[in-house]
Amino acid sequence: MIVPEFIPKPYKSLLDSGYVAYSSPSNIALVKYWGKKEHQIPANPSISFTLNKCKTLTTLKFEKKTSKGFSFKVFLEGVLQKDFKPKIEQFFKRIEAYMPFLSLYHFTIETSNTFPHSSGIASSASGMSALALCLVHLEQRLNPEITKAFFNKKASFLARLGSGSACRSIEGTLIVWGTHANIAGSSDLVGIKYPYEVHTNFNKFCDTILLVDKGGKQVSSTVGHDLMHGHPFAEERFAQANTNMDALIEVLKTGDLAAFISIVEREALTLHAMMMSSDPYFILMKSNTLEIINKIWAFRKKTGLNICFTLDAGANVHVLYPQNEANEIRDFIKTSLVMHCQNEQFIEDTLGEGAQPIKI
Ligand code: DP6
Repeated sequence: MIVPEFIPKPYKSLLDSGYVAYSSPSNIALVKYWGKKEHQIPANPSISFTLNKCKTLTTLKFEKKTSKGFSFKVFLEGVLQKDFKPKIEQFFKRIEAYMPFLSLYHFTIETSNTFPHSSGIASSASGMSALALCLVHLEQRLNPEITKAFFNKKASFLARLGSGSACRSIEGTLIVWGTHANIAGSSDLVGIKYPYEVHTNFNKFCDTILLVDKGGKQVSSTVGHDLMHGHPFAEERFAQANTNMDALIEVLKTGDLAAFISIVEREALTLHAMMMSSDPYFILMKSNTLEIINKIWAFRKKTGLNICFTLDAGANVHVLYPQNEANEIRDFIKTSLVMHCQNEQFIEDTLGEGAQPIKI
């Protein structure tokens, strides 16, 4: 599948060498992407909050070369990463038609995260979006006529081909990816800014990420997505995601936090229910994940505060709450939840505005 809109016109000239750099955030889905078709097309629409502090910072150095094929080295925190090569090689293959200069340069990709690697925080989303942004930035230097809107669109398009959820990490603060009948402009190919009214209850919404288990995932997201093919509940699940998106449109407009909590927690538990009922089945939650969920429910019942949780494809818990309740909820997190984290590690984040170029 080739999308002509993203194929550039021939460049007038090429730069010999140089570098570009971008910082790109992670995101947390409210309605989850789980299941995809060929070419990184999602089986259902998803919507996410863009985070502010959890970011990947990437510098891309490029030097013209004469040899054939792709040539690149990847460093994480200054250490050469051979393990990242296959994923980036696959990414380059998928995007070569849209970035014809890829095989003309040797690249050095230097990357670092503001959060622990393999902490279960979606580092593939921030990592792949940062790399996509660097590449589009380089393209912009070859063709300065690219508009900001097209820049973001192409970055999202490319990021999706690296990792689906990465296409929701370019802009802030609420991003929709996947065609939905009632969201104008929504697309399977790129993430778009949520186009409708959002109640002030969601301004600077908070996310404390509890690092329950920092070990590598037993099952990668890519394998998990694949298990939705032939999954007995797949069609129901994809339909439910569409219905939840509809419900969320109303909730985002009215600021109904009780309804918000019900959608977000049901989505998180459904995601894990899909994993637990696939063939082969697997469980990514740990006992501490469940301890935390039960404590959140009891605290919410007792206080009436609008605290809820969501999960990614891992054991860590994202605790979501409105900014005007942050003091009490953060006290509760520190006194009652952090004890369930590995090395008592957690990250306090809020909604963010999206990726930024880094001046070097
Ligand atoms: C559970 O984007 O990591 O975080 O497209 O195979 O790279 P690939 O998968 P990925 O899937 C993440 C799924 C999720 C839910 C979500 O972010 O919507």
